[in-house]
Amino acid sequence: MNYPKKLVETVEQKMQGHHLEGFLSGKGPKNAVLMLIGEAPGETEIKTSIPFSGRSGKKLDGWLAQAGLNREDLYITSAVRSRPFRIKQQRNKKTGLVETKYPNRTPNKAEVLAYAPLLDYEIQTIQPKILVPMGNIGLQRLLGNNFKISTYHGRLLHLPILTYSSETNQLTATSDTYTLFPIYHPAAVFYNQKLESTIEHDWSFLGSYLQNIDLS
Ligand code: URA
Repeated sequence: MNYPKKLVETVEQKMQGHHLEGFLSGKGPKNAVLMLIGEAPGETEIKTSIPFSGRSGKKLDGWLAQAGLNREDLYITSAVRSRPFRIKQQRNKKTGLVETKYPNRTPNKAEVLAYAPLLDYEIQTIQPKILVPMGNIGLQRLLGNNFKISTYHGRLLHLPILTYSSETNQLTATSDTYTLFPIYHPAAVFYNQKLESTIEHDWSFLGSYLQNIDLS
């Protein structure tokens, strides 16, 4: 995706002083039926410039294949386009020396808000038939903080979404409705292995649903 320069410059200005690294554009065909919306790129994605190319991406590719979907059918993006990181001092067990590490972290609300105009632009440009927020960060970016992935995953929703308003510097609901199908973030299985079958089931449902609807 080529974002308007002005939009990117504004985000960069707002994010000065935040612990964020790099910039990864959303990727996928202009006529993609599904738009997958993750959280933020991680270390691997910033290196490869490919969304979901790390550990989470391998899980995602497996479920997509089982559901009869492949990456060429999808536009993949996330709520935040740079890698949020923490700064952590850690003793190296072998050498005994204290080292500084920069692990990935979840983006905060101010970061999600600052990047919101970029996601709005992607949704307007691609106009996917179905928005697929993966995990709470993507879901709450689109629908607000009252929506929890544990409640709404695997459900087709027809609702207004939140977009950035420069007048209020807040997210506000659109007047038109969008179709959404929230799914757990692929990394959820690394914390809770029991979610594997739930996520697999939700992706399979979405794959079958797409085969049975008229996409013209
Ligand atoms: N998590 C995301 O949300 N996006 C990626 O590209 C990788 C991990």
